Amino acid sequence: MRDVRLTASAHRQAGFALTNTQVVLASVAGTVLLAVALIAIGGPGSRRANAQSEQDVAMRLQPVGTVVVKAAAAGGGEPRTGEQLYQAACNACHGAGTLGAPKFGDAAAWGSRIKTGYDALMASATKGKNSMPARGGSDASDFELARAVVYMANKGGASFPEPKAPAAAASAAQ
Ligand code: HEC
Repeated sequence: MRDVRLTASAHRQAGFALTNTQVVLASVAGTVLLAVALIAIGGPGSRRANAQSEQDVAMRLQPVGTVVVKAAAAGGGEPRTGEQLYQAACNACHGAGTLGAPKFGDAAAWGSRIKTGYDALMASATKGKNSMPARGGSDASDFELARAVVYMANKGGASFPEPKAPAAAASAAQ
């Protein structure tokens, strides 16, 4: 009988403990629900506020970004050398002779083209020729393109003079 009573009290304790757990669970659940409800109410508003402030930040940053870009263009906007443009825009095809491009430094491939003269090569480079895209698909200025053509042709056996910068050419013409 003593054993049975012990067991009963153990049950009662277990029951009590379970009830405690339930209370704790209920209050945790309540807190979570409250938090979810608060987020749901405040969420869209604060998201809109975030979007708004992101826009503000973007608008405030934009002039700075423009200034930085212009400064970079003014400071680092020196015309590229023939070698620089070649590396950036021409080597993709001319480096390995892709698409039938005359390969860089290959005198045999360049010989007959060089004979057509600088102006003809420059015309092809400017307008494009067959698989060769206009300006090699780059945004090169005429001066930069001329430098790259001369750089590449000279490495292929030509001895074209280095093109003059537009300002120098203009003042030379006066
Ligand atoms: C997408 C590949 C490609 C790129 C990039 C490219 N070329 Fe070419 N290039 C060619 C091909 C192909 C030819 C041969 C065209 C032909 O004669 O049919 C060629 C030919 C040339 C010729 C000889 C034209 C002639 O009349 O014989 C010159 C000069 C030239 N490229 C300059 C350049 C310069 C300068 C650049 C970079 C600014 C450049 N290419 C970038 C593919 C390319």
